[in-house]
Formats: sequence, C-alpha cells, structure tokens
Amino acid sequence: MQTLTSFTRPEQPTGHTCAERARLSNMNKPDDTNRQYSPVDQLLIGIDTGIRTLLGQPKITERSNPAQNQTGVELSEAERQLAGRLMRINHAGEVAAQGLYQGQALTARLPQIRQQMERAALEENDHLDWCEKRAKELGTHVSALNPVWYAGSATIGALAGLAGDKWSLGFVAETEKQVVKHLEKHLGQLPEHDNKSRAILEQMKKDEGRHATVALEAGGTELPRPVKKLMGLTSKIMTRTAFWV
Ligand SMILES: [Fe+2]
Ligand SMILES: [Fe+2]
Repeated sequence: MQTLTSFTRPEQPTGHTCAERARLSNMNKPDDTNRQYSPVDQLLIGIDTGIRTLLGQPKITERSNPAQNQTGVELSEAERQLAGRLMRINHAGEVAAQGLYQGQALTARLPQIRQQMERAALEENDHLDWCEKRAKELGTHVSALNPVWYAGSATIGALAGLAGDKWSLGFVAETEKQVVKHLEKHLGQLPEHDNKSRAILEQMKKDEGRHATVALEAGGTELPRPVKKLMGLTSKIMTRTAFWV
C-alpha cells in the first residue's frame, strides 16, 4: 500500500471511461489489489465499511493505541463525565471523517488520490477505535446520531470528489486544519491528569496535521472563505449535539 509520505502531486484529471472509473474505485478493498471490482462489489464494500464504522469493528492500521503506555489516574465523577463527553464528540468526529473519506473514494478521479485517501481513512479508523475504547473506559456511550454524521459526511465527501481532485484535497486539508484547532481546544478542556485521553488526542492532532499537509502538497487548493465558514458551522452543530446525545 502506498503511504502518505510517498504521495506525489497528481496530473490534471483525464477522462476515464466507466470501466476505468469502476476499476479505480476500490476504496478499502480486500488485500487482492489486482482484482477488479464491479459497481455492485464496490457498493457492497462501501456498505461493509459503513457498518464496520458504525458498529465498532473498523479495519485499523498496525499502530498501537497511544493510551496503552499511560498509567490510568483516578478521576472524580465530574471529570469522568466531562472526559467521556469530550471523547464521545471526538469519536463522532472520526465517524464523520470516515464518511468523508468513503464518500470521496467513490468519486475521486485519480488512482493516487484513492491510495492517499485509503491510508488516511485507515488512520481515521485508528482514531475511531481509540476514541471508542476510551469513551467506554470512561463509562459512557458513543453518539446515538453516528449514522447521521456518517451519512451526511459521506454525501459531502462524494460531492467534494465530484467537484474535482484539487477541490476534494482542499476540502480534506481544510477539514483536517479545523480538526487540529478543535483538538487543541479539547486538550485544554480535558481534566489535567487524564493521561490516557490526552495521549490519544495528542497523537490524533499529529496525524490530522500531517493529513492536511499532505493533501495540500498533493495539489489541494484553498477553499473560498464562505465554504470554510459553513464547514466550521456544520462541525459546531455536530460537536454541540454529540456532547449530549
Ligand atoms: Fe481523525
Ligand atoms: Fe485526518
């Protein structure tokens, strides 16, 4: 599998045939990379990925959970509740990120972009897994509205992919930048001694920053200001809702 760091700037999109587009649209496919998938195969793979994302069995990378190396510290009831809610929000954000990458995978034009998105999507699955485990350790549930966040983000991702790869990558870069800012805010809000949650968010912040840089280096373009504002507003609605539900 091609890694994020080995990604190169794409050439301008060319007019692929339907068959070529079908062959390229193999996001999160099983290990047989030479196999060609029909549109029905792809739909089933997409459904499988969605179910894994929402039911907690996502395909993850080789990396270990950053919380594993941290000593658990006892939290007061109020601290536990706050940390749990923050981790629920972060989990919901990762569900949305997964929807975004899956949606883009269906419509992105270039094979390099697909491979790029595939690795980033797997890393988002790591985040998803770490946040869910930590939320459960803190005695809380994940957001009941996760299917809504997933479906909404997959639609937005597919539309971004249709707009063209430079816009799609620009959308990824802006999303990741906004997530980094959001994680910084959460790191400030977490109970001081919640080492486990903190270690997870610190690693996520590094990953998201890298995803943004690579998307820009791959040819992502700066989005218009009103689009950025709308994205910020949408994520505010999600984070405020997921705090409670
Ligand atoms: Fe993430
Ligand atoms: Fe990311």
